[in-house]
Amino acid sequence: MYYPDEVVEEIRMKSDIVEVLSGYVKLQKKGSNYFGLCPFHNEKSPSFSVSGVKQMYYCFGCGAGGNVFTFIMEYENYSFQEAVKFLAKRAGVGLPDMEYSEEARKKEGRRAKLLEVNKEAAKYFYYQLRGPAGQAGCQYLKKRQLTEETIHRFGLGFSNQASDDLTRYLRKKGYGDKLIQEAGLASFDEKHGMYDKFWNRVMFPIQDGNHRVIGFGGRVMGDAKPKYLNSPETMVFDKGRNLYGLNFARAARTNYMILCEGYMDVIAMHQAGFSQAVASLGTAFTPGQAALIRRYAQEVVLAYDSDGAGVNAALRAIGILKEAGLTGKVLSLEPYKDPDEFIKNQGQEAFKERIRQAENSFFFELRILAGDYDLSDPESKTKFHREIARKLCSFTEEVERENYIEAAAQKYHIGFENLRKLVYAYAARTGGVQPAVRPKPGIASQKDPGEKKKKPQKLLLTWLVEEPALYGKIKKYISTEDFTEDLYKKIAEKLFRDLEEGALNPAGIISLFTEEAQQREAAGVFNTRLMQLGSRQEQEKAFHDIVVAVKRNSLEYASSRLGGDVSALNQVIEGKKALEELSKTHISLD
Ligand code: GTP
Ligand code: MN
Repeated sequence: MYYPDEVVEEIRMKSDIVEVLSGYVKLQKKGSNYFGLCPFHNEKSPSFSVSGVKQMYYCFGCGAGGNVFTFIMEYENYSFQEAVKFLAKRAGVGLPDMEYSEEARKKEGRRAKLLEVNKEAAKYFYYQLRGPAGQAGCQYLKKRQLTEETIHRFGLGFSNQASDDLTRYLRKKGYGDKLIQEAGLASFDEKHGMYDKFWNRVMFPIQDGNHRVIGFGGRVMGDAKPKYLNSPETMVFDKGRNLYGLNFARAARTNYMILCEGYMDVIAMHQAGFSQAVASLGTAFTPGQAALIRRYAQEVVLAYDSDGAGVNAALRAIGILKEAGLTGKVLSLEPYKDPDEFIKNQGQEAFKERIRQAENSFFFELRILAGDYDLSDPESKTKFHREIARKLCSFTEEVERENYIEAAAQKYHIGFENLRKLVYAYAARTGGVQPAVRPKPGIASQKDPGEKKKKPQKLLLTWLVEEPALYGKIKKYISTEDFTEDLYKKIAEKLFRDLEEGALNPAGIISLFTEEAQQREAAGVFNTRLMQLGSRQEQEKAFHDIVVAVKRNSLEYASSRLGGDVSALNQVIEGKKALEELSKTHISLD
């Protein structure tokens, strides 16, 4: 732990989970819990639950879960420390200096250092643009019609012609060569020593959703190649899970985002008042980026280049948007090449009109598809209609499918009933409409070979949380030593202490872990539902079986370590006795 436990706990207690999460997810009260649409996977009916009593959240659809820290980590892409800081500020709790463990310092320190050195580099580029060396850069940006305010807002900068001035500047600020290289700002070779990655380029700092500089794009000022250089991926720069412009777009509060191809497009759009514009980071649009957008908007208007490459990129993006549960529309920029050019020539109002006219992504797909067929030839035309039918099968919801069948029939002059028949014939041949895509479960899968041992340990913990009175009945047989899984042992240690003191605190237990995956798994312990199953008698049997399974596993584990280890021998002897006794004992749930 890097902040003292008491401080972490104080912050958690002052950050009511229902209140904090309400700022992110629309929650509705149902019974003692709150429900909403899960921000971490695509769903249409709410399976994301928040418990004010437990101070935890859990999604029954995808298994995401944890306490208020876990949520902020997952949502904001923060580390545990960053989440603690964020909530401390929100709750008005002062933070002491960090208590570093060696390992923690290394990992957390590295992340923080990378962000720091990026910020420093961004500042350097920013001042270079305004200095004597930056004239060419200024002229270029003026030529692209960016205002002073826009340049400032996006923190644009300039890397001058010297080949190692950034490195020298950063060294002077106290950063080591290794860090500078790790950030992708410079490289090293025997012949040249350290040399900057970016020189003689206009610099675009790439910020994450929280305005932190995580990388750079650098553009040449003429037609040289490559047009853009981008930072490599680093510990803080994940190109598939960030979007250029998102730091502003997430605050735009429109129900749609505009997805462009280039940095310049985003900037031009924002300058024209469309602050909901974002772009991917020099790579193709990813599912991770779609998931990111889905937190803030329900619809995406694609404003990709109007050339062939742009159309293909749009087609791919549409598929990804659909998987993520986002509605897609495609904007026509004709006769212009990209949003930047369009805005410059036609202005804001005309662009708004284009947004209004944006084409439904399904019909965009059909229109592009039609280009592959000769519709004057009956043979080719039939194939096209079959293809339409095949695509219509991808709508899993009946009403939606019927509506699309109707619209497609009208658009392409096909008899409604004929097209409908074609769709259902196709579905029958291929085993029905495509099934909905299930999100990957976050918790260890059932196929894990250790699962059989883990499960009783987890279930036992769940029982104790749900019915704390049982603790008194089993503590004679079970100790924390019986938990052979590290994660569960750690939970058991805290839980047993809490139970001894009669102060159960599940959400507090989750903050024992600093990794999101562990928090998620720990949260699973407190959210498994078991009480409604079967009669009281059956439940008693189930509970008894669990206790025995935990004890037996622990005994087996201790036996495997026999030979040299005295404590293991004691454990085996004690375990055998306990198991024998357990077999004769009835544990009542009442
Ligand atoms: P301008 O041509 O200045 O208007 O730039 P743009 O932002 O409109 O870029 P463009 O549409 O040509 O390209 C889209 C995006 O692809 C850019 O923002 C970059 O992220 C990326 N990109 C373009 N050219 C290159 C290149 O040569 N190398 C790499 N790595 N990425 C590039
Ligand atoms: Mn452009």
